Amino acid sequence: MKILVLHGINLNMFGKRDPAQYGTATLADIEASLQALGSELGAQVESYQTNIEGQMAERIHAAHTDGTAAVVINAGAWTHYSYGLRDALAILKCPVIEVHMSNVHAREAFRHVSVFSEIVKGQICGFGVDSYLLGLRAAVSAVQQARS
Ligand code: DQA
Repeated sequence: MKILVLHGINLNMFGKRDPAQYGTATLADIEASLQALGSELGAQVESYQTNIEGQMAERIHAAHTDGTAAVVINAGAWTHYSYGLRDALAILKCPVIEVHMSNVHAREAFRHVSVFSEIVKGQICGFGVDSYLLGLRAAVSAVQQARS
């Protein structure tokens, strides 16, 4: 089972960026934790990060034909305003799980809105790196349920 984990704008800066919100783990640390959990759960995890919105849309488009069974996405600030990425995600047939390291609802008002909320299976926020790991568990479980 292939799970695609997408990291959006500025998320390559985890580890250097606002440790009060995001902790000190780097994106490489997060990816290593996802790989370890993926092996445990019998899932193949592929991670992709970009700061360029069009490249993210193209990676989502490619997920239609590359065997992706589910997507876990932290789109960073794009979450709050990118209708383009929302539309790209909405075309996917597989489950999409939205994750955030910080508790976006306890922060500035603009972060309370996710333009993805209506088209994702669910959202996980506020648990730091565990948000990703919970998102991966949710993705694997959603695929298993759909197949049973
Ligand atoms: C974030 C929350 C977003 O509001 C912010 O723009 C980010 C990171 C998170 O993981 O908590 O870049 O998605």
